[in-house]
Amino acid sequence: MKNFEVYIEDRFEDSSLEFFIDSKQLKIFLNKGTSFGSNHDTTLFAIEAIKYVYEKIGPVNNCLDLGSGSGILSILLSKLNYLNIYSCENDPHAIEESLLNFKSNLNNDFPKFIKEPFQKNDFYNLIVSNISGGFIPNNINNFSLSLKKGGFLIVSGFNLEKKIQIIDVSMKNNLKFVKSFENKPWISIIFQKS
Ligand SMILES: C[S@@+](CC[C@H](N)C(=O)[O-])C[C@H]1O[C@@H](n2cnc3c(N)ncnc32)[C@H](O)[C@@H]1O
Repeated sequence: MKNFEVYIEDRFEDSSLEFFIDSKQLKIFLNKGTSFGSNHDTTLFAIEAIKYVYEKIGPVNNCLDLGSGSGILSILLSKLNYLNIYSCENDPHAIEESLLNFKSNLNNDFPKFIKEPFQKNDFYNLIVSNISGGFIPNNINNFSLSLKKGGFLIVSGFNLEKKIQIIDVSMKNNLKFVKSFENKPWISIIFQKS
């Protein structure tokens, strides 16, 4: 699973983000740093998609945040009471910053870092992945295999022009299109495993 893209988002100061999900007001504190994941559109569209899935099915267990960056999506899932959250990140610096952000936001039961996200079949009820380049289109089969039937996949981090290609590959891998969130050039898509 090599990826040679550089993911940096400068946060020169500590910051806080607020979200309203299902009438809950959630605050996420981010320590200053450079790992990706605060208010880029790809992150915000992943959050919109999480909000949509949460409002449909509520919190579930066995969730994967693949490409966790600053840890923002893992923290959000945790604050929404999802259980057994697994984070996966191939940049050690981002893992360090995530751990600091976990400490600043969560009391206990931190999301658990794993190295092999696709080790188990039929395991996750929710996967969220915001990674650019070829990673998502090249791993649709892995996403699908590791999801439980009825489980949701949220992908973000790519341009609108890839929408048809990604929906096409996903359909061939038992992933039904549910909804997309779009604002040129970015898009996030929700799929459900059938
Ligand atoms: C666009 S950032 C997303 C960060 C955060 N989840 C968000 O939504 O803002 C992508 C992250 O995925 C990580 N990444 C890229 N390829 C990866 C791979 N194959 N396995 C695990 N992490 C990966 C990068 O280091 C980066 O931190």
